[in-house]
Amino acid sequence: MKTVTCTAPVNIAVIKYWGKRDTSLILPTNDSLSVTLSQDILHSKTTISASETFTSDRLWLNGKEEDITKNKRMHNCFRETRALRAAFEEEERRHGREVAPLSTWKVHVCSENNFPTAAGLASSASGLAALVFTLAKLFDLSTNMSYLSRIARQGSGSACRSLFGGFVAWEMGSEADGSDSLAVQVAPESHWPDLQALICVVSDAKKGTSSTEGMQNTVKTSPLLQHRIKEVVPARMKQMKQAILDRDFETFANLTMQDSNQFHAVCLDTLPPIFYLNDTSRAIIKLVHEYNNASPDGKLRAAYTFDAGPNAVIYAPKEHMKEIIQLVAHYFPGAADGSYFADPYRILQSNEALGAIPANDRFNAACIPVFPVGAVSRLLHTEVADGPRVVGKDESLLNADAIVL
Ligand code: DP6
Repeated sequence: MKTVTCTAPVNIAVIKYWGKRDTSLILPTNDSLSVTLSQDILHSKTTISASETFTSDRLWLNGKEEDITKNKRMHNCFRETRALRAAFEEEERRHGREVAPLSTWKVHVCSENNFPTAAGLASSASGLAALVFTLAKLFDLSTNMSYLSRIARQGSGSACRSLFGGFVAWEMGSEADGSDSLAVQVAPESHWPDLQALICVVSDAKKGTSSTEGMQNTVKTSPLLQHRIKEVVPARMKQMKQAILDRDFETFANLTMQDSNQFHAVCLDTLPPIFYLNDTSRAIIKLVHEYNNASPDGKLRAAYTFDAGPNAVIYAPKEHMKEIIQLVAHYFPGAADGSYFADPYRILQSNEALGAIPANDRFNAACIPVFPVGAVSRLLHTEVADGPRVVGKDESLLNADAIVL
């Protein structure tokens, strides 16, 4: 039996992917670009065991056994990696080298997120990236990440970007078979370590439209999406890459906010319209603009972005993060049970209270009302970080019999 355990990070796009030109190969209608966030805060972990004695493929997701054959997207990732392994075995045998026939063995897979899925945070990107990276390690495949990203892409589009750390572009490509639709690293995490993120988990009782379904309705019905694809994204991708290379937060912030707003505008331009933002999300948008407006040196200090749900991600340089956390905590207070803010980077002094507004005359404290406790349920402070990691045997999610622990 062979067992491997790996973790993969979450990524949050600053130029959004929204729309497919091929729904089975998962080929997008535009390029996108994201920032990889620290696995110390959010990650998916996957353990896979392969053995000649297993009688069927088995899958446990967040503690629950699921039918692997019903999960088409995961199935695609297995098919592709097994085919690569089979080709490798063939090659080894041709050279007279002995090799275990892993491509024919059944597998047991267990995957978990270290964050509650109920929090509404994207988990498909980190989950599918962890699956593909672990399969590649299990099968001794090349870990050329751009190469593997073409497989992860077929699990979930945004997953292809979670194979790299730092700043990552997904090039849409033009080939019908998807061979040139892959992720590339624009810059590693070490390039701009000063950039941090604050995830504001916004409470939402409704079950929203899934990205997969929502984006295809947009492709079918939104004329604005066509303008975005042809005119807006190509220019923005160039500007965003340059802003990252120059560590130019001003340009990065403006483009990030504009692109989030345009993504939600094409959702509104869909028939019937898709609403992902709620009153809390919109108040966070206003707050960030007011905070930037009152900036003493006139420079932008924070940028918001929202995916297919109401949660906000605020990117900001490290030096302003404490003030931003204080500000958000003031207008969106959390429950007093300690679940609101864990302070992983120790930005608060011991006993320092949360919820101060900036001591700055230019800041209009009445820009938004103070929301009831729980409108934002959690604040997760995180930073730009590395791609997937192989972890030790002691972190395995399967026991010695390859059954979920
Ligand atoms: C709004 O990658 O979840 O987060 O390819 O159908 O699995 P599928 O969609 P998914 O879509 C992500 C959409 C987004 C923007 C982004 O991450 O670029």
